[in-house]
Amino acid sequence: MAKEIEALLAGLSKPQKSIAPKYLYDETGSGLFEEITTLPEYYLTSTELGIMDSHIDEIAATVGPQASLIEFGSGSSVKTRMLLQHLDKLAAYVPVDISEEHLLESQRNIRAAFPHIEVLPVVADFTRRFSLPAPATMPLRNIVYFPGSTIGNFEYDDAVELLRVMHQEAGDGGALLIGVDLQKDPAVIHDAYNDSAGVTARFNLNMLRHLNREFGSDFNLESFRHKATYDSDEGRVVIELVSTQQQAVHLGGTTILLDEGEAILTEYSHKYTLESFAAMADVAGFTVSKVWTDPNQWFSVQLLLRD
Ligand code: SAH
Ligand code: AVI
Repeated sequence: MAKEIEALLAGLSKPQKSIAPKYLYDETGSGLFEEITTLPEYYLTSTELGIMDSHIDEIAATVGPQASLIEFGSGSSVKTRMLLQHLDKLAAYVPVDISEEHLLESQRNIRAAFPHIEVLPVVADFTRRFSLPAPATMPLRNIVYFPGSTIGNFEYDDAVELLRVMHQEAGDGGALLIGVDLQKDPAVIHDAYNDSAGVTARFNLNMLRHLNREFGSDFNLESFRHKATYDSDEGRVVIELVSTQQQAVHLGGTTILLDEGEAILTEYSHKYTLESFAAMADVAGFTVSKVWTDPNQWFSVQLLLRD
């Protein structure tokens, strides 16, 4: 707890204030994200599901029998259901997520739908050291699954580090199946993060409510507004909470001063080219073995093998 407050204060003391995106996900935040995935503007989920649906037989054949499926940031495990239906003699399903109540509720539903599969949920922050349980059935290989382009929420060095963790968890003969959002018409990307129903704004602002509850801070949600802009030079959406007035916020005995118009960075969402993603994966010790994409080339599902 003290370490978390220290890290939060470090982010809020820099000239460019920031809060780590993992704080977007408490029970309410996970519910709001689920709502985002159904918005007409949020093309990521529907496009990824479409790719999975079109290629599921090939994906299942590539994974092979008796794998252990380890999912990072499993959320509601919606896309995973397709894999659970099609993978041959799965050894176990190990969903890892930081959002405890949401993870446990989702896994109750998964167990009910797939009673023959051993489900071993792990509540953990995957950016820190954590350990995975061993399944009762010895797997023939580990498949790390990281859908949704959650990799895009990490800056380059952190993304490489996370890919290295997955490389290690995949182990000998293992692989990484990953969803990667691609660069496209900036207007399409802009709208996905500025939906007309305002759900993304509520998702972003809820982070402050989460901090108030968990760390006793006194952010006033009424005096911040959601902002999301696509920086096409960097190939990423910059998501911020902008202070609508000069104000003081208290956290862990420290006062944080914000000017009117000052922004707190809450999340990046990087968009890749197939080449830029392959180059980053290579640095982490992976080779891209297969790429499945949609007709517009908006999104990709990729199978990465250990070098
Ligand atoms: N895989 C789902 C959900 C993506 S949303 C999909 O594709 O739709 C990102 C998920 O990652 C959320 O469920 C969130 O709780 C989880 N998450 C984000 N940061 C995390 C972290 N540091 N450690 C563990 N889980 C994290
Ligand atoms: C989880 N992640 C991939 C989402 C994204 O698109 O970057 C989080 C999100 N932020 C705002 N809308 C969705």
